[in-house]
Amino acid sequence: MTTDTAAQAAYVVAALLFILSLAGLSQHKTSRSGVVWGIAGMVVALAATVGLASRSITASGLVLIVVATALGAGIGLWRARVVEMTGMPELIAIMHSLVGLAAAFVGWNGYLDVDADLSGSLLGIHHAEVFIGVFIGAVTFTGSVVAYLKLSARINSRPLTLPGKHVLNIGALVAFVGLTAAFVVRPSMGLLIAVTVIALALGAHLVASIGGGDMPVVVSMLNSYSGWAAAASGFLLANNLLIVTGALVGSSGAYLSYIMCKAMNRSFISVIAGGFGTPAASADDDEQGEHREINAEETAELLGNATSVIITPGYGMAVAQAQYPVAELARKLRDRGVEVRFGIHPVAGRLPGHMNVLLAEANVPYDIVLEMDEINDDFAATSVVLVIGANDTVNPAATDNPTSPIAGMPVLHVWEAANVIVFKRSMAAGYAGVQNPLFFRENTQMLFGDARQRVEDILRGLDSLDAPVPEMAGTSR
Ligand code: TAP
Repeated sequence: MTTDTAAQAAYVVAALLFILSLAGLSQHKTSRSGVVWGIAGMVVALAATVGLASRSITASGLVLIVVATALGAGIGLWRARVVEMTGMPELIAIMHSLVGLAAAFVGWNGYLDVDADLSGSLLGIHHAEVFIGVFIGAVTFTGSVVAYLKLSARINSRPLTLPGKHVLNIGALVAFVGLTAAFVVRPSMGLLIAVTVIALALGAHLVASIGGGDMPVVVSMLNSYSGWAAAASGFLLANNLLIVTGALVGSSGAYLSYIMCKAMNRSFISVIAGGFGTPAASADDDEQGEHREINAEETAELLGNATSVIITPGYGMAVAQAQYPVAELARKLRDRGVEVRFGIHPVAGRLPGHMNVLLAEANVPYDIVLEMDEINDDFAATSVVLVIGANDTVNPAATDNPTSPIAGMPVLHVWEAANVIVFKRSMAAGYAGVQNPLFFRENTQMLFGDARQRVEDILRGLDSLDAPVPEMAGTSR
């Protein structure tokens, strides 16, 4: 077997391993094996690519490959080991930016180093691939950098509303199509520079225009873009595996974006077009009345007398790492005969499945962790809801206020319960920058402080409810 045939066979094996990986990652139970399949696929792919390259490469070229691989693997290992669960989305965003940057470089390289054997229509196709690759890569690059800045709170997550923003986006797309045609006919560095600049600006503008509440869709959309950017590079480098892998990432990312749009009642087209069709939202983070406060002892007493409790966790539970005491609280209440369930919003936290991962880590039984649609009708018959570090996902403005930036987004109907206790540190707005009228409802009480500390205080409060009162213990016998 020649090296080429062996490498192509290895590529098929790697592609199958990537498909197995995606299948595994689609369910909690199989997600670990999904990761292992993905690692195996990557090892096979890397070995085959290096084997293929080593046929015609100089010794110094080989050294460069080894150094680049070791450097990349080292940085990857280091980041993966130190990243906090809450920092995961921004890490993913910045990684997508690298895929975009690589695709743009591959495109530029394809322009500077054209295969001398290409002629006629094949040369035209090559030029189109260069142009499209640079465009998708550059859009992905700046889009991901802006997403990273928003997710890491280095810039405000509110949508940027430039005058005529849709005209700007459509103008950029029209210019891209026109410039592609011109480049295929007469390629020039000037045209390639022009499309690079337009794509860099478009990527930044598309993501900057999207409001905080829609960021989950943006992350999966950029995931999809990075896949298409990789596939475009695959065409330029005539690498079948890159084309297949890029298409897998591109289509699975697009499908995930579609699912998330459905879950959030958003138009897919509207979100990928940078908030097209959404009203110029006036994020209103002013307080809307008086709020009432409760302390941990009073909360423990309320919980001790409750018959049913629903816990709706959000991003704040992840920040506080409160999942362990929360799991302990659920266990204690269930031991006392209280019905305890968790209500999980599809975009709670900062990652798809973020809350499920944290609760599984703390060994909360799967059967009491319910999705929003499964639990939303049960709040009205619930004694106490504990909103632990959630905000946007329990905001009644989404259902009551058609002018709210999050209007139409399905939310957990926590306000229908008899008592709602909100755990947070201040009256600050949630990720979407919108104030939450829930905090000012009559049946809501705020429990301020770090969620982990407050839940631990409640656990102590529950213990002291159970402890016999010394004098009473003496007189009752
Ligand atoms: P958020 O709306 O982000 O609100 C979290 C709340 O937690 C904040 O109001 C904050 O209030 C509180 N908090 C932070 N640290 C805390 C701590 N140590 N102890 C107690 N409370 C703390 O949360 P959510 O309801 O989970 O909504 C998620 C939002 O993120 C949505 O807008 C969603 O669209 C967006 N998003 C989601 C994803 C995915 S895929 N899930 C990705 C990107 C963006 P204080 O500061 O006052 O404490």
